[in-house]
Amino acid sequence: MKDVTQQLSNSATQQPKPAKRLANIELSLIRQINALATPLSVNLGIGEPNVEPDETLREFAVRAAATGSWHYTANPGNVSLRKLIAGENGFDPKSEVCVTAGTEEALFSIFQAYVDPGDEVLVPNPGFLAYATLARIAGATPVAYELEPGSAGVPPAVEHDFARDGGRDTRAPRAAEWCVDVDALLRKITPKTKLIVVNSPSNPLGSVIDGETLQRIANAGPLVVSDEVYREIWYDAPPPSMLGMSGNVIVVGGMSKSHAMTGLRLGWVLAREAVMKPIVTAHQYIATCASAFSQSLAESILSDADWNRSWLERIRAQFRTQREAALFSIERELDATIPPPAGAFYAFVPVPACDTVTFAKTLATDAAVLVIPGVAFGSLGEGFVRISYAASIEDIGAGIERIGRWLRAAGR
Ligand SMILES: Cc1ncc(COP(=O)(O)O)c(C=O)c1O
Repeated sequence: MKDVTQQLSNSATQQPKPAKRLANIELSLIRQINALATPLSVNLGIGEPNVEPDETLREFAVRAAATGSWHYTANPGNVSLRKLIAGENGFDPKSEVCVTAGTEEALFSIFQAYVDPGDEVLVPNPGFLAYATLARIAGATPVAYELEPGSAGVPPAVEHDFARDGGRDTRAPRAAEWCVDVDALLRKITPKTKLIVVNSPSNPLGSVIDGETLQRIANAGPLVVSDEVYREIWYDAPPPSMLGMSGNVIVVGGMSKSHAMTGLRLGWVLAREAVMKPIVTAHQYIATCASAFSQSLAESILSDADWNRSWLERIRAQFRTQREAALFSIERELDATIPPPAGAFYAFVPVPACDTVTFAKTLATDAAVLVIPGVAFGSLGEGFVRISYAASIEDIGAGIERIGRWLRAAGR
């Protein structure tokens, strides 16, 4: 009896062992860089809109709080909201739309519904870091497909002693139009490939994939997850959607980026009924349902089509101005010309430092500016940093100027 009590008390003081599925999974580099922020830092590492709700949006929120239900909704969300999300796209609100606690939960539900240990998941490199992690959590192997800088080409990364030469590198900055080599992607499909993940507009590249390429991926055979969370943030033309391209396409989206609602956790999945069923089952055991408040708010927003159109136009105009400010400073301070991002609010910028993790951490502590090392998004991101221009014009100018000043002081 004494032994058992002793064992119980020993195990209570020991550090509990995390599940094997979390082995080698840590908080993302983005979180690690953000942890270095001080009150003096200029934050160009941020992945959310620098947009505040206007009066109408606040009124919608007040109405949702005052009149909306505080109870569970149906697992896939209120049908009235699902109707608005389905729109005129030919998806059945009852069985082909599921409202989720943000796009992230939508992705998690899909991976839990479809990915088994031993499967392979094709993920973009560079690409949003959650995809590979979600594959690993499900016991699968992420297999990277490359996004290649088009015409200009990227000089190969070179071994580089950051401490010795302060980040100097002889590689010339270059313009890089990132695109998917779809033939190379198709060659990576094996009998083990369960999912192909596509993200357009891309985090971290700001690039958009053309409709023809998307259709070829849709026709490839495996299930395709199209992450369209940045779909409403575009500059010259609306990005093509994969919605309806094939019965095996699952589209995810949400209101985090389009309506600056990152904290309200409102996303969705659109898929054909047979594909959707297991996703709703997984979603039930993860979240039960998305927040009833956020669902009511989303319903008010999507019901007022005129207001919504003008809101989206306004935030696109704001990001367009911020994009111009970022491109101007990047050229002037960092001596780099990049093609204007077609969507989202990120510039993926070549920098004369190969070890961009050390570079970004040094910038955070020595120059008080936060950017995300490109390698956080995959091996092909090495040699780049992601600069978010979801920041005020002043911060964009000051932050990029600090990077330039630091590089010049380091002898570039
Ligand atoms: C490409 C991409 N997908 C999904 C998400 C998650 O968005 P949400 O806030 O809707 O969960 C993000 C957030 O940064 C993202 O960049």
